[in-house]
Amino acid sequence: MVDRIQKQWEDNAEAFADLIAGTGTPHHESILNPCVEELLGDVKGKSLLDAGCGEGYLARYYTKKGADVTAIDLSPSLIETSKMITDSESLEVDYRVGDVCHIESVPNETFDIVLSNLVLLNIPDLVVALKEYNRVLKTGGHLVFSIVHPAFNFYGPGAWEMGEKDPDTNRREGLFFKVDNYFDEEEFERYWRTRKGEKFPAPISFFHRTLATYLNSLVTTGFNLVDFREPRPLDDNPFFDRERRIPFFAVFKTEKK
Ligand SMILES: C[S@@+](CC[C@H](N)C(=O)[O-])C[C@H]1O[C@@H](n2cnc3c(N)ncnc32)[C@H](O)[C@@H]1O
Repeated sequence: MVDRIQKQWEDNAEAFADLIAGTGTPHHESILNPCVEELLGDVKGKSLLDAGCGEGYLARYYTKKGADVTAIDLSPSLIETSKMITDSESLEVDYRVGDVCHIESVPNETFDIVLSNLVLLNIPDLVVALKEYNRVLKTGGHLVFSIVHPAFNFYGPGAWEMGEKDPDTNRREGLFFKVDNYFDEEEFERYWRTRKGEKFPAPISFFHRTLATYLNSLVTTGFNLVDFREPRPLDDNPFFDRERRIPFFAVFKTEKK
């Protein structure tokens, strides 16, 4: 299974790095990232694992904020891209290619913080990943992770019923959001699009799970929930009309017991 997931991200590595473009998409910039940063708090002097770092913009960002960052990803190409940008910015990040479910190269109780941004929904076995995050965290350390909100998961059993395109925003109006078969936890394959609207070369697997599964898995793998957020767009940009009506992301801050 992990080979199949790795191939997807390898095939999509160039398109994904292009989409992220050093800052994340407008959704990341205007909705998700400020919330994640608030939950992380002051990272200066802390050891931080960016688990599933992708193109690595958050690893670089939190390095600039003074964290001692290790970053791991399944995709060698994404790690290579991230290394190149990191070097060009004269930053130091400890990069590793690997599976976040088995980080053998990292001893127990190594990190103050594990950040896993939009990764767990791409991982088939949630509990295995959470156990590994727990293992590498110091006692009292924090795991902050984000996912696409499981109750309004358009990479899963949900979708907007769309209206006409708004010429000002170039986005279609959302009439209402429909959800069905929420309780069926299964894999969905979706194609992303580049900023130019071109289809990614390969599909991406998303593993839909209920909110209860996320919360109960945290309990059984040794975490306390500290904070849970459903971030909204920061400004009143009409582009985000849909995202002001239902939450796009869910963000969890947890502590290792
Ligand atoms: C949606 S991207 C998010 C990347 C980055 N965290 C960000 O916020 O831009 C998901 C990332 O998780 C990585 N990934 C998926 N499964 C993984 C695994 N088992 N171990 C390590 N990385 C994994 C993918 O290669 C991809 O880079």
